[in-house]
Amino acid sequence: MSGVTQIHTPISPKMRFYSHSVDRRACAAHAASMNTSAPSSSFAPCSIIAFASPKGGVGKSTTCACLAGSLAARGHSVTILDLDQNRTLEQWAKRFPGQLKGITVEGVDEDAFLDRIRELYHQASGFILIDVAGAFHKTTIAAATIAHLTISPAKLSAPDIIEAVKLNREIRQLGEKVGKPINHRLLLNEVSPIWPTYQRAALVDVERSGIPRFETVIHERAPYAELFLTGQTPHMAEKTREPIIKAVAQLDALTDEVLAALEDAPAMKEAA
Ligand SMILES: Nc1ncnc2c1ncn2[C@@H]1O[C@H](COP(=O)(O)OP(=O)(O)OP(=O)(O)O)[C@@H](O)[C@H]1O
Ligand SMILES: [Mg+2]
Repeated sequence: MSGVTQIHTPISPKMRFYSHSVDRRACAAHAASMNTSAPSSSFAPCSIIAFASPKGGVGKSTTCACLAGSLAARGHSVTILDLDQNRTLEQWAKRFPGQLKGITVEGVDEDAFLDRIRELYHQASGFILIDVAGAFHKTTIAAATIAHLTISPAKLSAPDIIEAVKLNREIRQLGEKVGKPINHRLLLNEVSPIWPTYQRAALVDVERSGIPRFETVIHERAPYAELFLTGQTPHMAEKTREPIIKAVAQLDALTDEVLAALEDAPAMKEAA
């Protein structure tokens, strides 16, 4: 995580505004009371994973739903907090009632977010996944700072990677201030299975960014896009079609990596 980025990412005035408007004391108090960076070998009381990137359309909601489906298929209880004003995942759950077994989806307003997550953290077991809006907003930073693990999906394209680097910089700075080590990883999404030259070139930028990434990449595949049409993540679909089988295999590998990344969560320093 200490690698030096070679991607030029100027801090915009807008970013500065949001950065300074994050309530650092509130984040510190919440992180401390929730002890969210404690090693989570038994995943107790529960593990919090944020899907965050300031860039829109990178696959936050899609990969959040897919990971929820995969964790639920392993018997875990999953609560998704939908922080996006569009309520992509809350609407998805409402459209397909009864289909998302083991998964609860709840839309939360950003003003209520810190209190709600604290409440849930002490009540719920299993996993809380947070789907954050695709904007550089104070809630993006707060969610990423509180989570045990923050996942930034990114396509293999410079704009996606640059935005993930900006987020990494912001949450690391805030994490240092509140004494909370940050566990942030890139998830390469919508990768073409044939790895065209431009994608291989973008991978070099990813490695230079210094942000750890999951080895598993999520390919551009119909079963991921279909979940908003059918209500079924790959794990919920019938495993008869080849693309579904491949998507399930990718998500199983990703889930193993996510669980390992939670085990590796750095130990909590005293919160400031
Ligand atoms: N791996 C994938 N393969 C195919 N299509 C994908 C994949 N990942 C995402 N998509 C499609 O890309 C579009 C954007 O995905 P999604 O809504 O998950 O992004 P997002 O980051 O949540 O966007 P926003 O910032 O607007 O909330 C959707 O139409 C989705 O179906
Ligand atoms: Mg979304």
